[in-house]
Amino acid sequence: MSTTPAITEQMTEWWQHGVVYQVYIRSFADGNGDGQGDLAGLRSRLDHLASLGVDAVWINPWYVSPLKDGGYDVADYRNIDPRFGSVEEAEQFIAEAHERGIRVIADLVPNHTSSDHVWFQEAIAAPPGSPARDRYVIRPGKGPDGAEPPSNWEAVFGGPAWERLPDGEWYLHIFDTSQPDLNWEHPEVRAEFESIFRFWLDRGIDGFRVDVAHGMIKDLTFPDIDSKTELLESEHPIDHPHWDRDGVHEINRAWRAVLNEYENRMMVAEAWVHAERLPLYLREDEYHQSFNFDLLEAKWTADSFRRIISRSLDAAEAVGATSTWVLSNHDVVRHATRYGLPLDVKWRKWVTDGPHDALDEALGSRRARAAALITLALPGSTYVYQGEELGLHEVWELPDEVLDDPTWERSGHTERGRDGCRVPIPWETDGPSFGFGTTAPWLPQPDTFGPNSAAAQAGDPDSMLSLYQAAIALRKGRFAADRRLAMLDLGADVLAFTRGDDVTVIVNMGSEPIELPEGRLLLSSIPLEGGMLPSDAAVWLAG
Ligand code: GLC
Repeated sequence: MSTTPAITEQMTEWWQHGVVYQVYIRSFADGNGDGQGDLAGLRSRLDHLASLGVDAVWINPWYVSPLKDGGYDVADYRNIDPRFGSVEEAEQFIAEAHERGIRVIADLVPNHTSSDHVWFQEAIAAPPGSPARDRYVIRPGKGPDGAEPPSNWEAVFGGPAWERLPDGEWYLHIFDTSQPDLNWEHPEVRAEFESIFRFWLDRGIDGFRVDVAHGMIKDLTFPDIDSKTELLESEHPIDHPHWDRDGVHEINRAWRAVLNEYENRMMVAEAWVHAERLPLYLREDEYHQSFNFDLLEAKWTADSFRRIISRSLDAAEAVGATSTWVLSNHDVVRHATRYGLPLDVKWRKWVTDGPHDALDEALGSRRARAAALITLALPGSTYVYQGEELGLHEVWELPDEVLDDPTWERSGHTERGRDGCRVPIPWETDGPSFGFGTTAPWLPQPDTFGPNSAAAQAGDPDSMLSLYQAAIALRKGRFAADRRLAMLDLGADVLAFTRGDDVTVIVNMGSEPIELPEGRLLLSSIPLEGGMLPSDAAVWLAG
């Protein structure tokens, strides 16, 4: 039986209120001059993270991988890809991060392996019906010659979720064909992942971000999916044959038991499930946290932000958990760009279909500054995606021939995918890759990256970088671990709330400047105008 822990005013664990910086390692910093980021580059830029004041870093998969899906296709879970470094270097990195008081969260991918994984190679080399095939979901097809897939399931990246092997059987891949789904009913699969957890815990990893945490269990009768209802868009949870099935909770509990053998470790779920079902993942013997993507999906209106913040806090509190806040990550259009689009534009489609002249970059940048003062003020942990502290925009103009995301090929070139938020980070104002490395980076950077680079922004009190540094420092000093938030009513277009003892956060999401209540100005996203808070701007006041 799980019980709900008592809610206290203070959040005592580091992961309950930390700022977690997401490193997409391939695009963070290139230390060996091959055009791709790596551990050497990351180690050389640790001071950037320390000066930002973050509590932890989450590193996207760094394991041996053919990189068909940016490393979410793992060929060896106990080794680092040679392009990124080695296990020894990972250990050095963990130690250096710890010296600076920064914890390290690794990314674990349990739903599928790479098709290069030794298990899958063994499976397809073995004849149909052999035990080596049981670790994956491999079945005969339907129809007279078995020429039809076992079900009509579709892959997330487009096309059918089944691929036929030369001997006629089919294997399941909910993502790319290079990502065969594991069979989580198999005891060896379960034992293997517990051992992988231990391998990295023994090397000092402080936590895990678990990829597709709602996907491991499938209905092995493979019913066709006849409704087009999207899991997250339905009003009530739906019984889906491969998402969010009850069986995942048993797996969660087994992992939690492993983590509990160590001190102070955590795991956070990437679970795209119905809001009503999310609390199940946060029971006391399951995940410590789950990503909350609701703000990321929210439109830029005071009403939707207010609603989502209140609902998220209530949902977390109901199970004794804390919330998380995310505006951007490696899977979505950067929020500086999203906020520059008209409210009715669907940003996932906009990257490919436009209209690109609908984008108001200056407006997006201005709102992104205000958004930083929202997410960094909320109770819970805030995830910052690399480059958002530099105010980077989506690079939507990438030429077709450099696109790397499997979505582009699988959709028959009708969806460009996620490359535009994965363009290597600019560190310096010029040079062949703006200081990312010494050669051309794996995805080309636009010229705007020079003025947006970390070097261009360091020391400039008006820069986005300085705003993030100031906000994170103030948050730590004043209210980070304090759970209290009370909404204030300052008008329909104003998001306003108090935090901790004495901080008031006010965000003007309307079109006219507003008067501010009494209070000492701690921080503002842009300068006040005659004492008024302009449109699309935010302040933190004290007292
Ligand atoms: C998660 C990752 C995404 C990846 C997918 C398949 O959603 O965030 O980048 O493509 O899982 O592993």
